[in-house]
Amino acid sequence: ARPTIAVTRWIPDEAVKVLAEAGEVKLSDADRPLTPEELREFVAGASAVVSMLHDRIDGSVAEAAGPGLKVVANVAVGYDNVDVAALAARDITVTNTPGVLTDATADLAFGLLLAVTRRLGEGERLVRARTPWSFHLGFLLGSGLQGKTLGIVGLGQIGRAVAHRAAAFGLRTVYSGRSPKPDFDGEFVSFDELLRRSDFVSLHCPLTPETRHLIDARALRAMKPGACLVNTTRGPVVDESALADALEAGEIAGAALDVFEAEPDVEPRLLGRQDVVLTPHLGSATVETRTAMAVLAARNVTSVLAGDEPLTEVRP
Ligand code: GLV
Ligand code: GLV
Repeated sequence: ARPTIAVTRWIPDEAVKVLAEAGEVKLSDADRPLTPEELREFVAGASAVVSMLHDRIDGSVAEAAGPGLKVVANVAVGYDNVDVAALAARDITVTNTPGVLTDATADLAFGLLLAVTRRLGEGERLVRARTPWSFHLGFLLGSGLQGKTLGIVGLGQIGRAVAHRAAAFGLRTVYSGRSPKPDFDGEFVSFDELLRRSDFVSLHCPLTPETRHLIDARALRAMKPGACLVNTTRGPVVDESALADALEAGEIAGAALDVFEAEPDVEPRLLGRQDVVLTPHLGSATVETRTAMAVLAARNVTSVLAGDEPLTEVRP
């Protein structure tokens, strides 16, 4: 029998076509994340699972799939939703989608930086509310980017792409992370120094036990009072309640978040604030990028099912 490939949510047709070369494609028809119970039921008997970042893929899901499961292809660069060790222990290959979403995510991070520093959300809401306004020299002033310092937390592919854009905008950049990158022409600093020196902080580290709540009350107090925070990685890297406290106390000036601790929920105190920009996890959301992500995930599946090396494997 042809292997079953369980796809937990809609993917572009191009990717379905690739998968169909290798097996029977079983698509979830629920227009929402499957519950953990539904997910276990859905993957039963599958040889491959194409998963989304909202699916928790752990040993119980592998158990539910059964001994035929060979590969889990997560359609995301982040794989904090996958228990890679538990799957590796069962000889299941795990893959992600690095590279193809680098520019789209860096663009969005920059869009958020511009939105929060130039008060675009606030201005847009004002216009839509038909609030009377007229141009004047003191109206809705933001802060410029040129000559300011952008702190990049995590200089992976996306962090580098953000640095590239920052240079074009006349920003200085400093970066922090586990180790300096000698091939990168930028200043490596400790996380604390980055917080102290940066006018804007953009997060590009993966979510791991070490980076959960990396931006907590202490980190927020260490930032400049005029600083803005941008998060396009994973919500739990920021303690949202501590962020609301810091904004209320004037410890930082603004924040732009594309990701949330408990998506799709948002800390209620952030919702009413004009100095906060909120977008619904759109980092990789272009037609080109989402297609490339799904096709890469599909090619990972077809490679593993054919007995070949996956293109972009994740190891524990
Ligand atoms: C999206 O958030 C991703 O990790 O690809
Ligand atoms: C992002 O942090 C990446 O390494 O692509």
